Amino acid sequence: MKKPILLVAFICLALVTSAQNKVTINTDEGKHIISRHIYGHFAEHLGRCIYDGFYVGENNAKIPNKSGVRLDVVNALKKLKIPNLRWPGGCFADTYHWKDGIGPKSKRPKIVNTWWGGVTEDNSFGTHDFLNMCELLGTEPYLAGNVGSGTVQDLSEWVQYVNFEKNSPMSNLRQQNGREAPWNVRYWGVGNEAWGCGGNMKPDYYANIYRQYSTFMNAKVGKEKIFRIASGASDNDYNWTETLMKNIPSSMMEGLAMHHYSVLSWGEGKKGSATQFSDQEYFKTMQQALLMDELIEKHSAVMDKYDPEKKIALIVDEWGGWYNVEPGTNPGFLYQQNTMRDAVLAGATLNIFHKHCERVRMANLAQAINVLQAVILTKGDKILLTPTYHVLEMYNVHQDATMLPVSVKSDDFILEKEKLPAVSVSASRDKAGKVHVSLVNIDPTKPQEISVDLKGLKATGVTGRILTSANVHDHNTFENLTKIKPVVFTGAKLTGDNLTVTLPPVSVVVLEL
Ligand code: AHR
Repeated sequence: MKKPILLVAFICLALVTSAQNKVTINTDEGKHIISRHIYGHFAEHLGRCIYDGFYVGENNAKIPNKSGVRLDVVNALKKLKIPNLRWPGGCFADTYHWKDGIGPKSKRPKIVNTWWGGVTEDNSFGTHDFLNMCELLGTEPYLAGNVGSGTVQDLSEWVQYVNFEKNSPMSNLRQQNGREAPWNVRYWGVGNEAWGCGGNMKPDYYANIYRQYSTFMNAKVGKEKIFRIASGASDNDYNWTETLMKNIPSSMMEGLAMHHYSVLSWGEGKKGSATQFSDQEYFKTMQQALLMDELIEKHSAVMDKYDPEKKIALIVDEWGGWYNVEPGTNPGFLYQQNTMRDAVLAGATLNIFHKHCERVRMANLAQAINVLQAVILTKGDKILLTPTYHVLEMYNVHQDATMLPVSVKSDDFILEKEKLPAVSVSASRDKAGKVHVSLVNIDPTKPQEISVDLKGLKATGVTGRILTSANVHDHNTFENLTKIKPVVFTGAKLTGDNLTVTLPPVSVVVLEL
């Protein structure tokens, strides 16, 4: 029978415009856990992250606080379920002498924060302040030790001070300073960016230094060894990873770090505005963010050579978008706004971490408050939750869930002659059996229709939330705190084991099945 011409034309048009995005979620193939520690944060003595951000001082009558720690910040971070917090740096860590930050505050020495703005650091926020704050937040501390300008003895004494229960000079000192029981800190960094601000070391030199320092960081947390993290590579420095893996036995290193920022250019003032970016700058930021997948794959391949059982975790303990500071703010304070660009950057990066969760078992977004890709900005007694905050809150259903492998065939996000996959997806099953699917569309102008094959799942219903906005530059301000916030998502339809999802331009969605 001949088909009428109009019908043929309609079928052709439908083929052209219908979904090319095809996702398969293998719900019966989950093997690996997405460690909640992938959702870690970072708090450095940098700009207004600690002072003004977390800590406003015990005598502050205007901003509600407990021992000087802002309660609005504590409540907001508790909702994120932050699993760990890295402190005191960053570059600052390799200048930090922890004994400056204990004992009566009036007697603590004042130092210069040489890395960040040359401001006076009065050491009013020290070890007790930080570790007690972690207890308040219900989060695990991750202490970064000073290798660049400290000594083996300093670091080994810090471990003793913080973790040793019985009678010893360091545990006695802790008790004199008001803390009876040890804090039992599990995560310890052995220096930071040893190839740069941590001492400009060569990898084989640092490998030796690492062996020496970690030998004396031998306290236990209960019956477990502490978890020592070697300062890792920057971006694609695979030689750094190779040299450390070759020269440090796995009995001495529980984690190996890696840092990757999504930055347009490292040149002074050349990182572009956080809010007024061009299409090209947006594309490049996304390119940098998606590069995380390749970086993890290649560092993991090197690690697999020496550690096929994946005993050593890859720890991405600094990641996020890095732009020019907000006009009129101190260039050394790294204060930047946060838009829908950052929301999709965060969603796509977390999807990458989920995919690699067998090796990537911790990560730390840089940084928690008022610095770089912050989840919270503060102004006086006000706080602002950024689009990135909302993505981390929506995604926290994946913490400690079983990762479900996905395969994604995505449409392209095209700019001029370049293209990137527009859609990124990850999925997990939580302990109660619920399946969560996270989907991101980085294309700022085109919606994406996605056909999802839920292999092995008899879903009976789908609900979801979405974070999106009309424009990729949109962000929350202190005048409009809720311009961007998650709302109910109605763009998912379930038919048997097939799910169709329509993602608006620049959006992040989390579904529950
Ligand atoms: O997060 C800001 C800085 O970036 C950190 O101090 C350093 O480790 C990295 O270079």
